[in-house]
Amino acid sequence: MNILLLGSGGRECALAWKIKQSNKTDKLFIAPGNAGTDLIGENVNIKATDFAAIKEFAISNNIKMVVVGPEDPLVKGIYDYFSQDEELKDIPVIGPSKEGAQLEGSKDFAKAFMMRHNIPTAAYASFTKETLEDGYKFLESLQAPYVLKADGLAAGKGVLILATLEEAKKELKDMLDGMFGDASNTVVIEEFLSGIECSVFVLTDGDSYKILPVAKDYKRIGEGDKGLNTGGMGAVSPVVFADKAFMDKVEERIVIPTINGLKSEKITYKGFIFLGLIRVNGEPVVIEYNVRMGDPETEAVMLRIKSDFVELLEATAKGTLKDAVLEEDPRFAVTVMLVSGGYPGNYEKGKTISGLDKVENSILFHAGTANKDGNIVTNGGRVIAISSYGESKEAALAQSFENAKVVDFEGKYFRSDIGFDL
Ligand code: AMP
Ligand code: GLY
Repeated sequence: MNILLLGSGGRECALAWKIKQSNKTDKLFIAPGNAGTDLIGENVNIKATDFAAIKEFAISNNIKMVVVGPEDPLVKGIYDYFSQDEELKDIPVIGPSKEGAQLEGSKDFAKAFMMRHNIPTAAYASFTKETLEDGYKFLESLQAPYVLKADGLAAGKGVLILATLEEAKKELKDMLDGMFGDASNTVVIEEFLSGIECSVFVLTDGDSYKILPVAKDYKRIGEGDKGLNTGGMGAVSPVVFADKAFMDKVEERIVIPTINGLKSEKITYKGFIFLGLIRVNGEPVVIEYNVRMGDPETEAVMLRIKSDFVELLEATAKGTLKDAVLEEDPRFAVTVMLVSGGYPGNYEKGKTISGLDKVENSILFHAGTANKDGNIVTNGGRVIAISSYGESKEAALAQSFENAKVVDFEGKYFRSDIGFDL
């Protein structure tokens, strides 16, 4: 079948790589894609949120499945757009309905959902401009540090962690005054949790589910998890502390109640659920839901799925996931992200990337790259993810680090301590 994959980052490059391996895939199109996805399938110059253009393309190219990489099209309702259109309704979209996408699109919705279904998460309350004074009082009732979250999508920047009550009050007011535009019209204030985090990915057809390999990502720019937050500097899978006992708790207390909760509330969901978890005193607690795969976790997780991925996605669309088999690769898989100098602050684009054809024993997933007159150049903060297998985490990392030296561009930077805390 012909498949259309939406998105343009490292996650989409890894999804494309895995989808392309299936015997079921005829043509694979990526909209809009990057220089790496164009080597795997065929890029289409359409934005992932341009539903009208996607419709026209899907019909004229006999698309039989749409796989959605990023959250934006999901939160904007691409699932419903397809299911409610006479000409599109038979083309399955892998992702939740618009209502289901609220698990990521609205933190207030996600928190209320978890409360309704007794899913472990940090204590919270939500506030608007009208209830600012109540927000101050709620902050006074908490211990430092203080966690403030913009309710809506804020390009991954909507969470602030403040050390003092004074700062927290100031930031609460600024957020409600439009610091993140409409996304912070409502602000969720949360109890601060301390522990180690991991990312659990669940594929569900709305009834049954498969838990994909667990990963841990590294968000800060600096070694030792210091400095500014980025879109992700690397990832490791599996995660040692997410052992059977821990994962049994995740399944019982979080995965099953989440899927049953969606079902009981009649929320259509045929796609990925990303559980951002934190381990507090040995127990899993939900930090956040996302309604898509993680980036850069996907660049490690895809290596660890042995089964035909398109078969799994087809079963998701058909509602037969219960009968599908998910076979995992027992090896470790890691990814190390090469980023542009200056990122996540200002950086330059258009630097020629060399050494791509000299890489051995790693898989390159392009993130921010473009093809300029036949040359692959940098086109974003995060440029290339170097993914490797290994019999141990250390062996896999050593392989990626070796190739991180082979691939080069002006200003290249990467973290050489990925996995340091595991
Ligand atoms: P989010 O955008 O919800 O993923 O939050 C970004 C990051 O903020 C998370 O990955 C955590 O490291 C941190 N964070 C979010 N909520 C909390 C919390 N309640 N306690 C401690 N850290 C948090
Ligand atoms: N790696 C975290 C995310 O994709 O949101």
